Amino acid sequence: MTTFAEPGAAHDLDDAPTSHARLLAWVREVAELTQPDRIHWCDGSDEEWTALTDELVTAGTLTRLNPEKKPNSFWARTDPTDVARVEERTFICSVDEADAGPTNNWRDPNEMKAEMTELYRGSMRGRTMYVIPFCMGPLTAANPMFGVELTDSPYVTVSMRIMARMGAHVLEAMGDDADFVPCLHSVGAPLEPGRQDVPWPCNETKFITQFPEERMIWSYGSGYGGNSLLGKKCYSLRIASVMARDEGWLAEHMLILKLTAPHGTVHYIAAAFPSACGKTNLAMLEPTIPGWKVETLGDDIAWMRFGDDGRLYALNPEYGLFGVAPGTGQKTNPNAMRTIDRGNSVFTNVALTDDGDIWWEGMTEEPPAHLTDWRGQSWNPQSPDTSSHPNSRFCTPITQCPIIAPEYDDPRGVPISAILFGGRRATTIPLVTEARDWTHGVFMGATLSSETTAAAAGQVGVVRRDPMAMLPFIGYNGGDYFAHWIAMGKDADAIKLPKIFYVNWFRRDDDGGFLWPGFGENGRVLKWVVERMEGLAAATETPIGHVPTPESLDITGLDLTAEQLAKCLEVDPEEWRAEVPGIAEWFEKFGDDLPTLLWAELDGLKARLGM
Ligand code: GTP
Ligand code: MN
Ligand code: MN
Repeated sequence: MTTFAEPGAAHDLDDAPTSHARLLAWVREVAELTQPDRIHWCDGSDEEWTALTDELVTAGTLTRLNPEKKPNSFWARTDPTDVARVEERTFICSVDEADAGPTNNWRDPNEMKAEMTELYRGSMRGRTMYVIPFCMGPLTAANPMFGVELTDSPYVTVSMRIMARMGAHVLEAMGDDADFVPCLHSVGAPLEPGRQDVPWPCNETKFITQFPEERMIWSYGSGYGGNSLLGKKCYSLRIASVMARDEGWLAEHMLILKLTAPHGTVHYIAAAFPSACGKTNLAMLEPTIPGWKVETLGDDIAWMRFGDDGRLYALNPEYGLFGVAPGTGQKTNPNAMRTIDRGNSVFTNVALTDDGDIWWEGMTEEPPAHLTDWRGQSWNPQSPDTSSHPNSRFCTPITQCPIIAPEYDDPRGVPISAILFGGRRATTIPLVTEARDWTHGVFMGATLSSETTAAAAGQVGVVRRDPMAMLPFIGYNGGDYFAHWIAMGKDADAIKLPKIFYVNWFRRDDDGGFLWPGFGENGRVLKWVVERMEGLAAATETPIGHVPTPESLDITGLDLTAEQLAKCLEVDPEEWRAEVPGIAEWFEKFGDDLPTLLWAELDGLKARLGM
């Protein structure tokens, strides 16, 4: 990077709590460019948290919740234009455009740097620049995955303290020369002298930019989590997926859970569903079937690499949960409710109750008689709009989850038995399908489709392909990504590879209702998955893979007619023949970069469908 010398902007770093030369040089360079009034090196202490949250309360960004309801917790409202990830403004700036592939926005890295440098010039004036040393995954790893975020947002700073291992101990572990991913973030709202601040500073112009070759992230203009907590999507998925390609591992948009069967056997399962399609729910599942137990390891991101024993091990690099709030309640996800009840959380764009607690649609059946909605307006059950934004979130420490698995902090991760892919489809896709083999499973993942949700800006409810639930997060060419997945399986011992399944909790009946009750009942599908792997459950071979026979799925005690069950499991050849052209069109986007094995899988599917 170039050095930006601005007259009068020299920042004294003599008191900096590190002698890491590359870090110091970068902090100085960014300070000279962005011109903050102060630089604060985050130590991650309770005192620091209290000072920052107090400051945010004074600024009007946060409201302290009633400590008897939610101790040490806060309600945040964003600017109404800054509520979700902005995929249109997200760029993979690889040197070669072909390396970004057809699924990413691309800009030349030098042009992008020049444009963003002008945006960053003076962008932190009047504000404090926070230096946040963090580590994705345990610090005890053989190669800890360090990052440092520079941000002018105290909201981002407190959120990063929840979402990642951060602070003085991380900086110390970095020593003088550890490698780290530089993550630069500015809300893009300099405070000129005399100008009154707003509760949620941001800028109409937004850029979420990854430089894959340099392993560097620049984010500008947005304070919303996925755009601003740079350890999460930007580092742990977009940049990490590139590292993973180069080094032979996988960085995936997956939950990790531990499933214990009544007879005591343990299976670890990873599952990729697109945003707002049920990862956090499944990760904290309370199975309704007796004797089955789920424990949580991660709800959003899995880094997976082969161990010396030939098995695929998964690790959650995060330290907190950033979960979709609406729909989370005692009935659907009691463990998430217990996690947030312990406090120490930030709730963004939900509603505030009159007694200083939070509420959102789906938390309880009946809404409170009066609320303050996410826009700060008085709300009652007759109000036309929802009280919470559909992409409102809870941000809470994962260590507070009452069913966290003790292995969550093991740097080796856990050996995965099964990988589930799933999306939100009203038709066509059965409740669960088992892939014939790894490559067929990669085909299922590569053709994964889902109806869009509020988690990203744009139209809701449109079917789009979302390969491995990674469409917005693959940091390189999607065709190369599929080839990497296939190669990972080819180089491995086939017996030890996880089995791959495709699930769909969202199929609808003719009246538009969900056919499958979902949530805690999804434990029945996990049971079938385990029994398939143990050779105990029957399946029907269909053109798309192995689907449960009606008898093989445990529906004891479930209010589901034989007809409804059949509809959940149905593979309608007519619907599938209609699905094929969309898959072919999707594959064509990747041109010569699409592995021929995936075309062969599609040919096989067509042949089985009589096409
Ligand atoms: P991100 O955190 O954005 O990556 O999404 P996620 O995959 O973690 O989504 P989450 O678990 O928060 O699911 C959000 C939405 O899915 C909510 O509206 C839930 O009510 C709904 N949902 C989750 N599980 C089920 C299910 O089994 N059946 C049905 N019908 N809805 C579900
Ligand atoms: Mn996610
Ligand atoms: Mn989630």
